[in-house]
Amino acid sequence: MAIQKVGVVGCGLMGSGIAQVCSQAGFSTVVREVSGELVEKGLKSIEKNLNRLVEKGTLTEAAKGEIRGRLKGTTSPEDLKDCDLIIEAIVEQLPVKRELFAALDALCPAHTIFASNTSSLTITEIAASTKRPQRFVGLHFFNPVPVMKLVEVVRTIATDPTVYEEMVAFGAKLGKTPVRANDSGGFIVNRLLVPYLLDAIRALEEGVGSVVDIDNSMKLGCGYPMGPFTLLDFVGLDTTYYISQIMFDEFKEKRFAAPPLLKRMVLAGWHGRKTGRGFYDYADPNNPKALEL
Ligand code: 3HC
Repeated sequence: MAIQKVGVVGCGLMGSGIAQVCSQAGFSTVVREVSGELVEKGLKSIEKNLNRLVEKGTLTEAAKGEIRGRLKGTTSPEDLKDCDLIIEAIVEQLPVKRELFAALDALCPAHTIFASNTSSLTITEIAASTKRPQRFVGLHFFNPVPVMKLVEVVRTIATDPTVYEEMVAFGAKLGKTPVRANDSGGFIVNRLLVPYLLDAIRALEEGVGSVVDIDNSMKLGCGYPMGPFTLLDFVGLDTTYYISQIMFDEFKEKRFAAPPLLKRMVLAGWHGRKTGRGFYDYADPNNPKALEL
């Protein structure tokens, strides 16, 4: 059955981006948050992104109107019950995700496909909270969702191959390049990215170079769009710490172990851009000041 209506649960940074690209791709989209305030906040950020596209001339006012017309915000889980696909992008807490999917499983018809945008939790374990693990995949998007061209499509040992291919095709319909990944900790991107980010912190701890010099090395020497510390602040130090803990637990390998400095920065509340301080201090956002050890 072709996907026509998509539900997105969570309208934060990732959820709002996912809802935007679904609506832009022509799907009727309903995005759910727990409060009216959070719905408004998420829809406002989508509106801002669409306005930027109109200003740049890549989107007409009429097309923007159509995208907004296909997109509905809600606080009611009931509004998700006629969706063909539901993509979850809520907090990275296994019990909360399992509870959500168990409730959705009872609410939605048998054909509805479930997907989680988790970056590091095991898809198999989330899917096991439902009676439809064969219709359950991971759809892992990247921040900022409207810009990043990749989606990891994750299959478990229980995913039905037909459902899986449908989700790969769905990723392509969103204008993304879908890559196929098995349900292994961190999938493909974080399996490679997280040890790299942690190694940058270890290099800093060991005095190999400063924050700015390590950032410039990878940016200018390797053509990365952001150096590792700028990216750590962008992704969130708390998020990276959390992912590293899950991956260390899965593989028990040192390369996934959080360096002491990361742990201490997270404990100090230095979570990166979102808290105004991480490896850079954003008191003056136009001139971030690097941490000096
Ligand atoms: N939403 C929508 N569009 C955005 C945006 C946002 N938040 N931020 C930037 N853009 C758009 C801009 O409008 C601009 O569009 P244009 O080229 O059509 O004019 C384009 O992106 C480039 O933006 P800027 O010129 O302002 O800045 P940059 O050239 O520095 O690009 C960036 C910004 C795209 C964020 C780039 O720095 C980049 O690619 N950084 C790396 C991001 C990355 O690695 N993300 C993955 C993180 S890992 C992850 O998400 C997985 C998780 O599990 C941890």
